[in-house]
Amino acid sequence: MNMPAIDKFERPVFSLRISITNRCNVRCFYCHHDGILPQSYEMTPDEIYRVSKIAADTGVRKIRLSGGEPLIRNDIVEIVEKIAAVGFKDIAITTNGTLLGKYAKGLKAAGLNRVNVSFDTLNPETYKFITKRDYIEKAKDGIKKASEAGLYPVKVNMVVMKGINDHEIWDMFQFCKENNSILQLIELLKADNQSSSRFFSEYHFKMDELEEELTQKADEVKTRQFMQDRKKYFIEDGEIEVVKPMDNTEFCKNCTRIRITPDGKIKPCLLRNDNLVDLIEPMRQGYSDEELKKIFLDAVQNREPFFKECSG
Ligand code: GTP
Ligand code: 5AD
Ligand code: SF4
Repeated sequence: MNMPAIDKFERPVFSLRISITNRCNVRCFYCHHDGILPQSYEMTPDEIYRVSKIAADTGVRKIRLSGGEPLIRNDIVEIVEKIAAVGFKDIAITTNGTLLGKYAKGLKAAGLNRVNVSFDTLNPETYKFITKRDYIEKAKDGIKKASEAGLYPVKVNMVVMKGINDHEIWDMFQFCKENNSILQLIELLKADNQSSSRFFSEYHFKMDELEEELTQKADEVKTRQFMQDRKKYFIEDGEIEVVKPMDNTEFCKNCTRIRITPDGKIKPCLLRNDNLVDLIEPMRQGYSDEELKKIFLDAVQNREPFFKECSG
């Protein structure tokens, strides 16, 4: 196994997050679009295969497919098969779950291991308010089918928002336990595309008190050292993980991931769009694997912590 590439801030890059489309079938009002700019071209399964192979050669061990909504692509099973053919043993998808009922078994058979499902509420009206769609039952069915298909772990991503779903945390935890899944509580992130800061001050929920409550209730608390120091709380027979990017000086310090946009640009940081590096154009021009690997490694060297106080 290759050793991971290390950036200027001594952060190893183990993990590649490939956004395979900007398209989505729901319209979450808070969506940061995974930090990517709108564009139409999407990489083909063969291009995704080659990108993953180059990443593997630089020491990347883990691939996560994201979007937009990755399951909106009708070649999603083929994409997972190609990535598995590179030899990856850790393949994950982040999805809104609405198409997971249809694809869970096929994806598992293709080599998918894990899935995170964006699902913020058990209340149909609130679901519709957040996503502008009536798909709550589809999303719930997706979560159930994912764990029935043997995908493990299934994580339920709940962006906690003041006055919208902050009162639902324990009901969501119960739902997750009933469906063999982990509840991942996510702090609302202020993103460039959210024009008004009123949106953020209106809905931002500070996690501090909640974390105290979790600590008191937990039988055990663990810290994911190479995952932005995220905390995992084991409570009775369930698990809650907290993703807290704001006010978290450790967040960028332990960031081990790099990203690819749907049109094949390496994106060294989720929260920046100013230092993208094109990988697909050189690939199409016939660059060799060695040359492409060099481009990838140079992009790793471009990585900088977004939260500058994280730089150690
Ligand atoms: P696993 O721990 O492997 O399950 O991945 P994950 O939890 O990071 O993946 P997921 O796609 O479910 O993302 C969960 C939350 O983390 C989302 O709110 C993302 O916006 C946020 N997130 C993911 N990657 C980054 C990142 O690189 N930087 C920042 N600031 N937030 C991120
Ligand atoms: N703040 C926090 N999390 C967000 N997500 C999307 N936009 C935001 C935001 N502004 C989450 C979704 C999804 C994950 C990829 O990112 O809930 O689960
Ligand atoms: Fe990594 Fe920090 Fe950039 Fe996120 S914001 S991608 S944690 S460097």
